[in-house]
Amino acid sequence: MNIIKKFIKKSIKGFNLYKKCCRSINLKKRLKNASPSIKDLVNNGFLILKWEDVFNESHKESELYKEMKNEAQKLNFTNTASYGSLKTNYLAKKYAQFESIKDGGLLKFCYSNEIASLIYQFFNSSYQIMSLDYWRTRAALDDKQRIASQNWHTDPEDALMLKIFVYFHKVSEKNGSTEIIKGTQVGGNNCFRKFPFKNLTGGYVKKSIIDRYENKNLISRLNADEASILFINTTALHRGGYGIEERLTANLSFASLMCEYVPRHIST
Ligand SMILES: [Fe+2]
Repeated sequence: MNIIKKFIKKSIKGFNLYKKCCRSINLKKRLKNASPSIKDLVNNGFLILKWEDVFNESHKESELYKEMKNEAQKLNFTNTASYGSLKTNYLAKKYAQFESIKDGGLLKFCYSNEIASLIYQFFNSSYQIMSLDYWRTRAALDDKQRIASQNWHTDPEDALMLKIFVYFHKVSEKNGSTEIIKGTQVGGNNCFRKFPFKNLTGGYVKKSIIDRYENKNLISRLNADEASILFINTTALHRGGYGIEERLTANLSFASLMCEYVPRHIST
């Protein structure tokens, strides 16, 4: 009986892997219908826009920006310590477990016509919200080791996903700007995974893989001014949040309708 159970389990695992490998991300269609900036995002894996470019108003005049920044500034490490993961050591999240953002600036931003239409263009389809957060990243001491997502990795949720960061101050190497390797996302020209595993994503990678890209100058550091809006396909190799000063951002995460992960506002 045990042998049969083991066989069935193995077969299901194999079938799921096969399904993931065969999964389409509709690259051609998405590129065909995209504006030049979204095309850049699809091809490179990231895009940096200014608040002004997206919302057609200065962030200094924007009520929405002020509301979001205000909400973000209330976030502190004591309130989110219950999040209970390795990340707690360096990252405070608005979205602690069992806490859901149901109103406020973050939700208005997410559902604004300006942002929602850009996300829709990227997916070329409807999409789902995985999480809406504010993040406060703790300053790392010089001698401190990188932990969790401060190391090079790809995100596991879906082969087609998008994260949006809003910077509430200037972000540079000092406060841990995200680094990303251009074109390494699923469907990208520089993806390190080879056929038939090209559509897989998730997990940490060895230094030898990163070394290959270092020589080709493909690593970009996402430094930007206050009120920049960053669009990142986190199936690309990336790492972040390691700096000697704190960083305060909004962090919104989206995936395709095929994503099998449960969005974080649903407790199971
Ligand atoms: Fe990540």
